[in-house]
Amino acid sequence: MTGTPQGERKVLRVLEGEAIGPPPAWMMRQAGRYLPEYRASRAEAGSFLDLCYNPDFAVEVTLQPIRRFGFDAAILFSDILVVPHALGQDVRFVEGEGPRLDPLDGREAFSQLREAGDPAVMTHLAPVFETVKRLRAELPRETTLLGFCGAPWTVASYMIGGRGTPDLAPARALAEGDTALVDTLIDRLVTVQTDYLVRQLEAGADAVQIFESHAGTLPLAVPAAGGTVEPVGDVAESALPDASVDALTRWSLRPIARMIAGVRARVPGAKIIVFARGSGLDGHARVVPETAADAIGVDWGVDLKALRARVPASTVTQGNLHPDTLIEGGAALDAAVDTVLAATAGLPHIFNLGHGITPQTPVAHVERMLARLRG
Ligand code: CP3
Repeated sequence: MTGTPQGERKVLRVLEGEAIGPPPAWMMRQAGRYLPEYRASRAEAGSFLDLCYNPDFAVEVTLQPIRRFGFDAAILFSDILVVPHALGQDVRFVEGEGPRLDPLDGREAFSQLREAGDPAVMTHLAPVFETVKRLRAELPRETTLLGFCGAPWTVASYMIGGRGTPDLAPARALAEGDTALVDTLIDRLVTVQTDYLVRQLEAGADAVQIFESHAGTLPLAVPAAGGTVEPVGDVAESALPDASVDALTRWSLRPIARMIAGVRARVPGAKIIVFARGSGLDGHARVVPETAADAIGVDWGVDLKALRARVPASTVTQGNLHPDTLIEGGAALDAAVDTVLAATAGLPHIFNLGHGITPQTPVAHVERMLARLRG
């Protein structure tokens, strides 16, 4: 493959199973408020959603961390919540507070959403595909371009609760009370987001990441079924309750598996990373067997060495430096980089953080991290 532009893209090569030392690197939230140039673009664009839907701005902020640090992958600048927005839900980003949606608190609110097949959904998202297309043309040929979306449970939990809460109580209450409604919502998100990822790949993304940032709110041991009432409209058979599986499988890994199969049916060989944050060592180890993902995004709470011992040597991992250690810097940061390298030496691994970089991170610490990594 080397010689083709794709063969020069190290992140893509690792996703194909190659071990590269030192590993290629990118950071979740690498375009963001820790960068002065991002804050300038953000101020110029007006609102956060204007930044996401304006390809001129979205291309610019995606490229900023690539220019500054030469990361091996660029991740499309957008947000997981543009999908609920495309489905017709009101989405706002409140300064200093985060996203706010009109809570989807029952069947009446659900019936107001657009159907999965409504062409208005993909029309709403068209600026995202334009951004991807322009990015692939403007990025250095060796830089892997990543598209993304949220996993259905994570997106559904924001849609139901209207905001992120530590325990996602509203989403879990609805999941216990009106199980069928949650199944139906997740089913709709599977359909829409499969299409969404396919279009990102067709527009020029080399690979995609699915963010299950709220996997940790799904208790592993508890059976998921129960409280079922009449299905709401058409639900795919594979989305129907099954008492034999736990909540992580039912609401997270199985919907993700359906998305991955759906994407690959239309884009054969599509490369897909799944980040199941908070699912623990066991949850992380289940990602590849249960979803057929190409790589496990590892959060900072998981012992990377222990995970590598649990999974086959051919499994691709990504992660998992603690974002707080990046804030701390100095010798602690050097040691943390070395720990990741030691845990993954000779194995297919993509260097990353264990969650997104935070706004208070000094730029110099990112430089130090990369210098240590690249030797
Ligand atoms: O650089 C990149 O990683 C690409 C862009 C990207 C953003 N959000 C930009 C963003 C990506 C991949 C996301 C994914 C996302 N969005 C997730 C999954 C990853 C994770 O962090 O767990 C989630 C849960 C969201 C929802 C979301 N968007 C939240 C909770 C917030 C508020 C938190 C915060 O940092 O303010 C956002 C806003 C957001 N998304 C910002 C950025 C750069 C900050 C907004 C701003 O500029 O004011």
